[in-house]
Amino acid sequence: MKIVVSLGGSLLYPLNEEYIQKVANFIKNCNEELYIVTGGGKIAREYISMARKSGVSERYLDRIGIAVTRINAMLLASYFKKRVPCSIEAASKMAPPVIMGGTTPGHSTDAVAAKLASVVKADLLVIATDVDGIYDRDPKKHSNVSMFEKIGIDELQKIAGRGWKKAGANVVIDAIACRVIKRARIKTIVLNGRNLKQLENAIYGRQFKGTEIIV
Ligand code: UTP
Repeated sequence: MKIVVSLGGSLLYPLNEEYIQKVANFIKNCNEELYIVTGGGKIAREYISMARKSGVSERYLDRIGIAVTRINAMLLASYFKKRVPCSIEAASKMAPPVIMGGTTPGHSTDAVAAKLASVVKADLLVIATDVDGIYDRDPKKHSNVSMFEKIGIDELQKIAGRGWKKAGANVVIDAIACRVIKRARIKTIVLNGRNLKQLENAIYGRQFKGTEIIV
């Protein structure tokens, strides 16, 4: 099976050596063909918000974000002595495991993961983030929230909004990713990447805690 995992930057930074080692072991021991796309997280947003003050373009700010996602990819790829591809085309030609960050301005690494899943015809796309799934409201801002066990792609698109907002936008899944998931009808699951057992459960078709996106 081919599995693409979007690994949120918030899981990798602040650097947690024990967690990163566990992810590397997970990749090594997984029998499936794995493609990992690392995000930028808080550190990317910090760099972007400081650079934004100097009045550079959003594309420039996106490029800063991309650089951070690639640093995270390089760190994880160092366990495998593998190079980090800079485009989906290059990634799709490499033998798994493949570890990469962002590609071009105008979307998040969730969209990169969705496009990669579409190109390599992945059996599953997992969006591994720092909350347990998709909620009706931002669980970091509200207390009375409920998590969807399943959500239709059309309903998710209403939550995600339209188009790319701005560099460092902190959204559940960006609208570009939703569009690709819908068009290519990619089986997609959102779960908490801190719990690698849940990731394993999702990959092997066992019961897991998270949200399944119905396409
Ligand atoms: P992320 O994918 O980390 O965005 O990319 P995020 O929404 O903050 O996701 P989490 O928190 O890691 O889950 C960081 C920023 O880098 C730029 C965007 O500005 C994005 O917000 N970026 C990233 C791109 O423009 N293109 C890419 O392919 C990837």
